[in-house]
Amino acid sequence: MTLQTPYYLVDKTVLLGNLERISYLRQRSGVKCLLALKCFATWSVFDLMAEHMDGTTSSSLNEVRLGHEKFGGETHAYSVAYSDDEIDAVVASCDKIIFNSVNQLTRFAGAAAGKQLGLRLNPQVSHSSFIIADPARPHSRLGEWDLDRILPVLDQISGVMIHCHCENNSFESFSEILAGIEARFGSVLEQLDWVSLGGGIHFTGENYPLDAFADRLKAFSERWKVQVYLEPGEATVTNSTTLEVTVLDILNNGKDLAVVDSSIEAHMLDLLIYRLEAKVLPNRGGHSYMVCGKSCLAGDIFGEFQFEQSLAVGDRISIQDAGGYTMVKKNWFNGVQMPSIAVRELDGRVRLVKSFTYTDYVDSLS
Ligand SMILES: Cc1ncc(COP(=O)(O)O)c(C=O)c1O
Repeated sequence: MTLQTPYYLVDKTVLLGNLERISYLRQRSGVKCLLALKCFATWSVFDLMAEHMDGTTSSSLNEVRLGHEKFGGETHAYSVAYSDDEIDAVVASCDKIIFNSVNQLTRFAGAAAGKQLGLRLNPQVSHSSFIIADPARPHSRLGEWDLDRILPVLDQISGVMIHCHCENNSFESFSEILAGIEARFGSVLEQLDWVSLGGGIHFTGENYPLDAFADRLKAFSERWKVQVYLEPGEATVTNSTTLEVTVLDILNNGKDLAVVDSSIEAHMLDLLIYRLEAKVLPNRGGHSYMVCGKSCLAGDIFGEFQFEQSLAVGDRISIQDAGGYTMVKKNWFNGVQMPSIAVRELDGRVRLVKSFTYTDYVDSLS
């Protein structure tokens, strides 16, 4: 079946490879792994993911509901700030609720009675190459760091969440930061039942020392007598998904340009935010093209890539690694056709699971 581009294509075989590494980690270390829905919320493949993960974590009422209704398992609720009118619905969908501040904890502890309560801590150290994604940036609002504020509310919580990594593929850096957390927050950790170490750790990567990582987590868990959680987003879906596009026009403005039926701003926004190039494989050959989106943004550029042959209108290009922070961020900028979502099943068959129409565009506005 030839699908109309643009579409995201989730390859379950690649996804399963990541999930098997997650399962191995869980078995060896005893940690529980929760999918971070902020990164990937394509519920058509939740059945496969739920076989290898313990549940989900969320950043909003909508995400916590989705996790509860479509994924199952353990459902953690977290948000930078909850409002009065959503707290009851959040509580109804979660097993644990993690507050970002002592203020929020104090305000909503009553409404959340009966659930396990947690607090986000900020160790004021992090691993992130991007200031915009650095939870330990100056004046960060993400979590409490002052023991004088944390210790008095410890009797109200059973655990904490500490998320301080972004795209961290260095085990040494992870271990060092964890040692810092142990030194700084030991008096807190020894009074808890569970600790979530957040996401941002790229432990499904091929060369990541998974055994050493598992053993470090197990030692942490045994030392403090806590159940450890991880909240992998990107690590879960890395390399599992492509964005399939078609060339609509070829131009030359000193460079050869290929305009495709997609938009980096609308369909892979993170690349623009972090000023990163997309990935195209194998990216070799004597023909160089700047692959550009079709929105009006002058900088709507996926990147410059090498091709074996010259490109022509109608050619297809697969933009790689388009699973994390893409489908959850896609938007209707310029009214550009929103990519459909397709899944390559384990037996190789491709199944269209979602397509978008003019009505969806109209319904997103009023
Ligand atoms: C609290 C929290 N948990 C988990 C994640 C997932 O991170 P990643 O997709 O990098 O694994 C994030 C990402 O921002 C986060 O803020």
